[in-house]
Amino acid sequence: MESGMDYWAAKAALDWLVELGADEAIGEVPVDRFALEASQPKPAAQPAAGQPGSAAAPAQQPQEADPVEVATRMAGQAATLEALRAALGGFEHCELKQGARNLVFADGTEAGRVMIIGEAPGRDEDREGLPFVGRAGQLLDRMLAAIDLGRTHPDAERGVYITNILPWRPPQNRDPTAEEIGMMLPFMRRHIELVDPEAIVLMGNISCQAMLGRRGITRLRGTWTEVAGRPALPMFHPAYLLRNPHAKREAWADLLALRARLEGLE
Ligand code: URA
Repeated sequence: MESGMDYWAAKAALDWLVELGADEAIGEVPVDRFALEASQPKPAAQPAAGQPGSAAAPAQQPQEADPVEVATRMAGQAATLEALRAALGGFEHCELKQGARNLVFADGTEAGRVMIIGEAPGRDEDREGLPFVGRAGQLLDRMLAAIDLGRTHPDAERGVYITNILPWRPPQNRDPTAEEIGMMLPFMRRHIELVDPEAIVLMGNISCQAMLGRRGITRLRGTWTEVAGRPALPMFHPAYLLRNPHAKREAWADLLALRARLEGLE
């Protein structure tokens, strides 16, 4: 081989990296951050107070747009779900977009009575551009089927619409920051208005944090609350259930509560 490394040595090096958790290429080409830093222009020295050029009025800086204001305007102008998807695609203020392969907007039945709000795409969702398609998503589908709901149920009344607080995958699946959640919230509020569900399920802590301003899913789960004027039920996230199978008992109780609520709403 030209590099001087044979196939087996290269494979062993890759396996070692994967074992360390570095299982993804983040960029197409490596970035030499030392070289980048050296090439940054140094900020101009400020004149000391009392020196020429130190007038009281600060130099005019170009105003940075407030991401929440931009998001509120863009979301408010979206009259349909397609327009909202396009607005998200054109929103350039969330850095997560740079590292994501796809925008993950939503899946399921737009006319469904239930809207599920998850946290953020993971690796599988980022690859496919659809929410909840990995292991947690497969468990979610089984949970929904247990109460005769589904994202593409032949009876639209039993169809479910699924989306996430964040439409882009955070690097290494880290928790989104309060700032990232804050700038995506206007889109989520508009998303709820456009889907107009009868009931909302908040999957996990991040969606409770975003929509209720509270965390602590162990205490919140199973108690109906309100989001955007609609009944909302916090539940354990299916990824949590995969790690803590003993919590499936509570998840089953919550699914029954959802079913009972839908029957009462009929
Ligand atoms: N977890 C989420 O909250 N959403 C997804 O789409 C996938 C995993």
